[in-house]
This record gives sequence, structure tokens and C-alpha cells, in this order.
Amino acid sequence: MSDIAQHLAVSHKVDIEDLDWETARCVGLTKQEVESLLYFADIESQTVHYFLEVSKLKVARDPELLTFLTMWNYEEYFHSYAITRLLKECGVEVDTASERAAKVRANARFKAKFEDFMQGLIAKSVPRTFISLWMFWGALQECLTTQAYEELANLTKNPVLEELCRRIAKQERRHFAYYFNQSKRKLEGRRFDQKFVRLIANKFYAPVGGGVKTDAEGARLVAQLFPGNRIFEVMGYIEKKMALLPGMDGLDCATRWAARVQHMLPPETRASEVPEHLQAAA
Ligand SMILES: [Fe+2]
Ligand SMILES: [Fe+2]
Repeated sequence: MSDIAQHLAVSHKVDIEDLDWETARCVGLTKQEVESLLYFADIESQTVHYFLEVSKLKVARDPELLTFLTMWNYEEYFHSYAITRLLKECGVEVDTASERAAKVRANARFKAKFEDFMQGLIAKSVPRTFISLWMFWGALQECLTTQAYEELANLTKNPVLEELCRRIAKQERRHFAYYFNQSKRKLEGRRFDQKFVRLIANKFYAPVGGGVKTDAEGARLVAQLFPGNRIFEVMGYIEKKMALLPGMDGLDCATRWAARVQHMLPPETRASEVPEHLQAAA
């Protein structure tokens, strides 16, 4: 079965109707969980804008890619919707998923607009390379997203949040697998694409949401979830997976990012020490 057929066979909006909302309300959420969930809901709700931007490009109008993007966008929307529901059930005042999406976009920083512009430029000048980059970037971000939901599931005392995070993480893992396999296919034997993608990852890697959140906000959220030296473990795990792709041997963009942002973090979430080989990046 092709990648896309497998995806089509299992794609669905994340189930939430069977969750035990009564228990969710009784146990409640910690302040930190609320912060993380608000951030996740904001970022998930922005997928539609990534989708809109990329679907404007001629090179993305490949039927298989459009099919994937449609399902991906649909699933991500419901991640935001489900998180919003949980927050509301637990007494957190929050706009609906659609209202949040519009507000976050309205505040999108110059960086988001610049990203859109650069994306268009790359897509027009080197269309095939752009697709390689899109797949690679997608895999890199979905891998972090999967780790983030799993961490939240492992740490929470709220069984409903745990179950919701596990269900969402399962879909994120599937998104990662699609992007990763596509990326492998696109990068194989294409030295220019490999070098270009590696260069962009080294220069610009930051966790998803960089356009609509400040660097410090993104860094704080990641460090809150993976405090202390754990940030290097998780980022190291992600880049090692990505390093399996053609031309990516020894990739260290994610751990270098973690070293670079240490000074932006509240002292209690900072790493006790930056690994020696990353100290120049810090
Ligand atoms: Fe998601
Ligand atoms: Fe995803």
C-alpha cells in the first residue's frame, strides 16, 4: 500500500466524545499544563495558514501531496479543537479554536510574513528542492510535536489529559512518518537538495510556531516541557532520527538551538551544563 493510501485508510479527527470529562474537571490542570496547552492550541490552529500558503504554490499541486495536506490540516484543526474543549471543561476561559486561529494570525509577526515570502521565492526558483525542504521540515517539526505530547502524557496526573495527549501523539507520529518517508525519497541522490536543506536547518531551525510566537516564548515552552538537561536529550533524539536521511549525517541543528536559547530561559528550567561540543553555540 502506498504511503498516501495508508494515510487515507486511517485518517480521522481525534476522538474525544468518549472521554470522561467529569474526571477531567475533578482532577483539573496545573498552571504549567494550562500554559502548555494554550500554546499547543495556538500552534495547531495555525496549520491551516501553512496549508493555505503552500497550496498557492504551483509545485505543491501534486494530487498526492494535496491529499495528504488536506488530511493533515483536518487532523491538526481537531487537535486544537480537542485541547480547547479540555481547557474549557477544566474551567479555563478560552476562545474557540477558530477564534484563536484568527487572533493568533492577526498578530502574526513580520517573521511569519517573511517566511511566507521566502517560501514562495524558493518554490519558484528551485521547485523540487522546495518540496524536499517542505518534507524535511515537516518531519523535523512533527517529531518534536510527538515528543511534546508524549511528555505531557507521561507527566500529567490528569488521566483525561493523558489519554488525549496519547491519541494526538499517535496522529503526530503518523504525520512524522509520512514526512520522513517522503523526505527520504526526495533527498535520495540529490546532492544539491541535501546541501540546501541542511543549510536551512542549520541556519533557521527553531521549534514550530516561530512565526507567530517570539523566540523566547517558543524556547520557554520547550524548556518548560523538557527542563534542565532533558532538552538536550530530546533535541538530540530528534536530530539523530533526522540524521538518518540522505546527506544529514551528524546533523546537530536542534541541540545547537537548545544551547543558543539557554540564556532566554527562566533559571529554573535552564540546563545545569551545556554539552561541551555545543558550548560555542551557546
Ligand atoms: Fe497536531
Ligand atoms: Fe502533526
